[in-house]
Amino acid sequence: MHTPIILDCDPGTDDALAIFLALASPELDVLAITVAGGNVGLEHTLPNALALTALAGSDVPVYGGADHPLLGAFVSETRVHGEDGLGGVVLPPGGKAQPEHAVDAIRRILRTSPEPVTLVGIGPATNLGLALTTEPALAANVREIVLMTGAWGEGNMTPAAEFNAISDPEALAIVLACGRPVVLATLETTAQALCTPAILAGWRALGAGQCLKAACDIQGTVPLNRRLAHAGAALHDPCAIAWIVDPCLFTTRDVSVVMDLGPGPSRGRTVIDRWGRTGAPANAKILETLDATGFFALLGERFSRLP
Ligand code: BDR
Ligand code: CA
Repeated sequence: MHTPIILDCDPGTDDALAIFLALASPELDVLAITVAGGNVGLEHTLPNALALTALAGSDVPVYGGADHPLLGAFVSETRVHGEDGLGGVVLPPGGKAQPEHAVDAIRRILRTSPEPVTLVGIGPATNLGLALTTEPALAANVREIVLMTGAWGEGNMTPAAEFNAISDPEALAIVLACGRPVVLATLETTAQALCTPAILAGWRALGAGQCLKAACDIQGTVPLNRRLAHAGAALHDPCAIAWIVDPCLFTTRDVSVVMDLGPGPSRGRTVIDRWGRTGAPANAKILETLDATGFFALLGERFSRLP
């Protein structure tokens, strides 16, 4: 069975590998790639998405979207992703973006798709939040929303907040409240997707394809996580795609999630109630454990299928 998805992203080193995984996976039908500013500005993330899809030999339509959050100022993350978003790895330029705005494209696809569509968000939730808040009835044609965002413990941008969550907390709150099933790959999930130099070396040995090489080159630029004892770099965004391709790689837990939208130091925190302490009904599923061996084997195998 093919799962139709819209992939909303901000490439971004780990977004790049998530895009390759999605395009290489026959379980998925990627209807559109929608792009926001996030890790770096939209002036980089959009050309990056176009270059990555072209390198993969895909003609999936790519749409430019929001270049700043619903509220507040845009903040990038060049320490992890480099000034250009791909760690300085230069790819041949891709084609042109579609003229339609990403938010309009998301709404049009949801309005016209003959079957429910899975929304995958691996960047700030602005494009998804705008689409769902301007035409809420379209949520009825959303099968599932899979997000790499948030943390049940500490954040990676502030002590309280993960990067995608704090980049547009209001948009994320809209998405969480839309009434459709939400699945979260949090920082605790992605810490288990620890991409070590040995894993990269193993991938490189799989072949000489341009996408496999680009994936390894791009991931090789990511600083090893101080938070994870410099053992490797957490490969965040591919976890969201892997959930749809092979959910058996994960164990899950149903939880309630509330966004902290306050102005204080906890702004952007995803307050996740794993133990039912609040009595609030579950509004999301978190991916709690990952079979890392299976995950990295899946990625290597899929990257090897691409040109
Ligand atoms: C998330 O933030 C970005 O830097 C990554 O691309 C990922 O989507 C991890 O916190
Ligand atoms: Ca991302």
